[in-house]
Amino acid sequence: MRVVRRPQELGAALPRGGVGFVPTMGYLHEGHLALVRRARAENPFVAVSIFVNPLQFGPGEDYDRYPRDEARDLAMLEAEGVDLVFLPTPEALYPEGFSTHVEVTGPLTERFEGAHRPGHFRGVTTVVAKLFHLFHPDRAYFGEKDFQQLAVIRHMVRDLNFPLEVVGVPTVREPDGLALSSRNVYLTPEHRKEAPKLYRALLAAREAARSGRSVAEAEAAAKAILDTIPDFALDYFAIVHPGTFASLEDWVPGARALVAGRFPEVRLIDNLEVYP
Ligand code: PAJ
Repeated sequence: MRVVRRPQELGAALPRGGVGFVPTMGYLHEGHLALVRRARAENPFVAVSIFVNPLQFGPGEDYDRYPRDEARDLAMLEAEGVDLVFLPTPEALYPEGFSTHVEVTGPLTERFEGAHRPGHFRGVTTVVAKLFHLFHPDRAYFGEKDFQQLAVIRHMVRDLNFPLEVVGVPTVREPDGLALSSRNVYLTPEHRKEAPKLYRALLAAREAARSGRSVAEAEAAAKAILDTIPDFALDYFAIVHPGTFASLEDWVPGARALVAGRFPEVRLIDNLEVYP
């Protein structure tokens, strides 16, 4: 496994084709590894980037304390048979005078995560566009855990004609249902016990959908559970169209329930397909 830190070295280190690419911010867990394994199965060459992207963190968010463990990450990727890991510094990707951004505009980036984290998606699309130019992958892998991010990336790839396939990978969960996240390490033991209720709320919405209840009734069933979580401030719960993220009055195939909120020490997000 080759480790590259300087963008200028990537060209010579990559093959001409057959690259499967997995962008990450590191502190890897089984969710990231599901993306890596899928990439390993589908491409002759697998490249992973580890970069905590300052551009996608707002002021007052957790950029400085975002968990990092480079040695552990590299050992995990080596064990998965990854061919190349890219570990740039912020200065290498954003040198003095950097002033170009890639932004998907409109409802897709204005609602939900876009509304609660101004500038977040602009930071994500800017770094992912840069990484796509550096890696020219055939396929790029993103988790459904960040369902809106996945939709925003698909939209950018379509609008800007990036010649690659975006592959979405299902969310990996703890046995109690909590979606794996690098940020779960922030949870206090008490809140760690409460956190699986986000998934239980999503399941309640799905159960309501399957038993013939309306979208409004499914939302109410989920919110009843979310209301019982101590110290938890809900940012949003909504059932939306999976492509446009428009709110639904009636069920559509693939309808997605989205949830996000904050314990004092950490913000959590999750989602689930609720209508088949
Ligand atoms: P990060 O949060 O490190 O996540 C990297 C990738 O792993 C994302 O595509 C994310 O959706 C996926 N992922 C995280 N947890 C997962 C889980 N439990 N199951 C399945 N996939 C999961 O998302 C980012 O980094 C950044 O925004 C990035 C795309 C790298 C741009 O900076």
